[in-house]
Amino acid sequence: MAHVVYHEIGGREAVEAVVADFYDRVLADEQLQPYFEGMDMTELRAHQVQFISAVTGGPVEYTGSGMREAHAHLNIEEADFDAVGAHLEAALRENGVDEANVDAIMSEVVALKDPVLNR
Ligand code: HEM
Repeated sequence: MAHVVYHEIGGREAVEAVVADFYDRVLADEQLQPYFEGMDMTELRAHQVQFISAVTGGPVEYTGSGMREAHAHLNIEEADFDAVGAHLEAALRENGVDEANVDAIMSEVVALKDPVLNR
């Protein structure tokens, strides 16, 4: 399995560490925190682990909603999307993901901007 990002970054444990760190950062950000008020964070974390595993080529099926469907009711602004992206990038780096794989993952994320912003 050459160049499967999921394996290169350390598999399930690494993805779980990144996602935990990512939501710590998001929930500590007062610009973003209101969006997550009252959300089921256990379910959200589980779906985020599946989602990142799936986009990095891991042997995991994503069982949540599509990105447009999941976010349409939230009326997210572009600045919020960029802030979430910055927290994910920081969480990836902080957990030892190398630059090439940070770039690979972040280009997948940028590609989701229109659906997440429902435009
Ligand atoms: C590329 C960026 C993003 C990705 C990959 C992503 C991924 C996800 C995933 C996988 C879910 C779970 C969907 C489900 O359970 O069916 C979700 C839900 C959610 N996301 Fe995002 N998200 C992104 C950006 C954002 C942004 C920018 C915000 C807010 C500022 C946000 C706020 C939320 C909230 C509040 C939920 C829960 C919605 C609910 O349960 O009603 N997300 N996201």
